[in-house]
Amino acid sequence: MSDTVFGAVQVSEHVWWVGAADWNVRNFHGYLTERGSSYNAFLIIDEKVTLIDAVKGPFAKEMLDRVASVIDPEKIDYIVSNHSEPDHSGGLPEVVSRVKPEKIFASVAGAKTLAAYYGDMGVTAVKTGDTVSIGKGNLAFVDTKMLHWPDSMVTYYDADKVLFSQDAFGMHLAGSMMWADEYDKSLLEYEARKYFANIINLQAGKVIDLLDALPGFNLDIRMVLPDHGPLWRTAEDINWILGLYREFAEQKPRPRALVAYSTMWHATEKLATAFAEGVRSAGVEVHLADLAENDRSSIMTHVAYSGLIAFGAPTMNNQMYPAMADALCYIKGLRPKNKIGFAFGSCGWSGEGAKQISAELEAMGVEQPEKFIQVKYMPNAEELKAIRDAGKRLAENLLEKCK
Ligand code: FEO
Repeated sequence: MSDTVFGAVQVSEHVWWVGAADWNVRNFHGYLTERGSSYNAFLIIDEKVTLIDAVKGPFAKEMLDRVASVIDPEKIDYIVSNHSEPDHSGGLPEVVSRVKPEKIFASVAGAKTLAAYYGDMGVTAVKTGDTVSIGKGNLAFVDTKMLHWPDSMVTYYDADKVLFSQDAFGMHLAGSMMWADEYDKSLLEYEARKYFANIINLQAGKVIDLLDALPGFNLDIRMVLPDHGPLWRTAEDINWILGLYREFAEQKPRPRALVAYSTMWHATEKLATAFAEGVRSAGVEVHLADLAENDRSSIMTHVAYSGLIAFGAPTMNNQMYPAMADALCYIKGLRPKNKIGFAFGSCGWSGEGAKQISAELEAMGVEQPEKFIQVKYMPNAEELKAIRDAGKRLAENLLEKCK
């Protein structure tokens, strides 16, 4: 029988899910959460009753009600805060006030961050190698600094062999089913890819370090319980998501192209379409996206998935069109690697747009084998051919890199 997210759900002998689904959130600090999200929190019923993470502030009562369906919340002895970003700690003040826990554990940076957000809550700082006995089992902490905040850590509970992985291996997905094996794999892959691209890509190198270091901790992991989205309970699924993370983190070039553009009077759109035609003519899959219709987190997902990224915009008031500046600022922060880039645009007179896009790509470390193309007012047949040919050459270049 499948579990649903509507009540507290027992996920292992001693562990209960007591989090909350946020079905209708669509803007998660600028990330378009097309399928909502969830804030997973877990209750360990051991001799020391322990709450692992909390939820976003408005969901604190809902979480406490779920706890109450299993045990009197005031019986919680310990709280572990694996990650102090407010989607997991916002409910803490209400929980702490109700529960009055004996101890709260967080990383060294987490203790400072929680104090900055909520004042002194008497947090005990822990680090990699520290363990705390809670009765039948022990909690072991592993610092995962900068995955994705300085405070981030994961906690392993040996009695049930579960890893509470906070944001890592999660995704923004509210659903009625609890377990990853109850969802379609292509949906999970899409949401995991989007989540990684937009939340974790900046620290991709640290993901590889963590994946390489994990076997050294000798943890017998039977379940991975992230703070967002479905939970991983089968060896096959755990290996699948760990493998996907390695693939995402490696950022090897893929034979796929993104052409993202802004347009005022369709001139840049014509250039974008011609470039895409050229890419397609070389046999490379291409995705066209007008920034007026696509949010930046969706664009970043395509950037992460594409070996060739082309950006085009008109010049407006001597600047690249503002939507393009927004997208490039966001993408640059997430530091995509191993990309071939291309800049293009249209202008009426001064024509700074394409050059500025090219400069942004250079600042990102994106290789640009072709000089940017800029046209005045509306591209003519010759100019359209030139950009079509550039698209074909760059796609061929990408195919060579993907070999
Ligand atoms: Fe889900 Fe980084 O918070």
